[in-house]
Amino acid sequence: MKLLVIGSGGREHAIAWRLAQSPRVQKVFVAPGNGGTALEPGLENLKLDSIEDLADFALKEQVHLTVVGPEAPLAAGVVDLFHSRGLRIFGPNRACARLESSKEFAKAFMQRHGIPTAAFACFTEPQAAHAYVDARGAPIVIKADGLAAGKGVVVAANLQEAHDAIDRMLVGHLMGDAGNRVVIEDCLEGEEASFIVMCDGEHVLTLATSQDHKRLLDGDRGPNTGGMGAYSPAPVVTPKVHARVVREVIQPVMAGMAAEGHRYCGFLYAGLMIDRTGAPRVLEFNCRLGDPEAQPILMRLKSDLYDLMEHAVECGLDAVEAVWDRRAALGVVLAAAGYPESPRKGDPIEGLPAPVEDVRVFHAGSTLANGKPVTSGGRVLCVTALGDSVKMARDRAYHVVDAIHFEGMQCRRDIGHRAIEAR
Ligand code: AMP
Ligand code: GLY
Repeated sequence: MKLLVIGSGGREHAIAWRLAQSPRVQKVFVAPGNGGTALEPGLENLKLDSIEDLADFALKEQVHLTVVGPEAPLAAGVVDLFHSRGLRIFGPNRACARLESSKEFAKAFMQRHGIPTAAFACFTEPQAAHAYVDARGAPIVIKADGLAAGKGVVVAANLQEAHDAIDRMLVGHLMGDAGNRVVIEDCLEGEEASFIVMCDGEHVLTLATSQDHKRLLDGDRGPNTGGMGAYSPAPVVTPKVHARVVREVIQPVMAGMAAEGHRYCGFLYAGLMIDRTGAPRVLEFNCRLGDPEAQPILMRLKSDLYDLMEHAVECGLDAVEAVWDRRAALGVVLAAAGYPESPRKGDPIEGLPAPVEDVRVFHAGSTLANGKPVTSGGRVLCVTALGDSVKMARDRAYHVVDAIHFEGMQCRRDIGHRAIEAR
């Protein structure tokens, strides 16, 4: 059977690669895909942009199931469109995707359903926002309401930074429409983790836990990015914390959506801050797999991903279990010069290894020029390795990283440091 994966990142490369391994899958189309998916056996890139064209293609080619990687098509209603045309697709509909596409919606939803999160207020008027920040004090967090590709959050250490962020969003409109409304929330302390589950509208299947590294530079310095590396599992999510997250966060989301008349079907990603007592609080929801979290998570998945997704769209997740490699996995993102502000493009990528069982290089911002991969976006590659410990996975990944080269390549050297220091 034929499948379709929508997206072009490292996450989509990993999803498509895993799906292609199912014995029942003949071919996985990736729209638009990247230089890595172009070369991967069993995958074929499609040059289709609009969600209408994707639906036309899925109908014509009798695509069995479509999987949505990124948030933008979900927020644009790709799932509603596919359903209206009788097509099978895995992802939340537009109403459910508001959990990610509007931070104000997400915060109000959490408040309505008693889901733990930081205290907050929403503003469209700069003066009221400035006054709130003055009254609340620093540190404080300013977030653009809409989708901003991971770049719409400012953790302000002092009041000046907070006032500047408000002015940039509400007065200077530097975040475009996404920043016409801001959420201002208290700054939480603790350790972050990414908690991702698959949902079928009624049941939930938890995936392996992971931890991302959002800042550009070693030691969690520099600007926020889409994510510079990730590993799985995250030791901060102990079995006790895991149970609390399911009970206090995930199940209330499913029940809350149902109570408001929506079935949540798709991946649900809770970005959590876990405090010293093990209490989880939600920093954000995403309606998709994380990138780069998907790469180490899917490296560890031993179950047939297509089988899991088929159960999810048939509301049968209670009948399956996900089996995980006991080893850890760790992915290091190699980013282009100038990322995140203005990534440079067109540089040849050298030194890519042949794929082996326990190391894979997932592509993101790459394309083929005369059959050879060149850079074409901010996060170019994610080198992902399995190992008996996070440290061994890290050493194996960096060994491959050190052989890869493109002009101005940037990467963090400390991916996994929290898990390694915790031991
Ligand atoms: P978000 O896109 O909402 O996950 O925010 C991006 C990053 O900003 C998070 O991964 C955190 O590192 C940080 N952040 C967001 N909200 C808070 C908060 N309330 N307290 C502390 N840090 C936060
Ligand atoms: N790595 C964070 C995200 O996918 O939103």
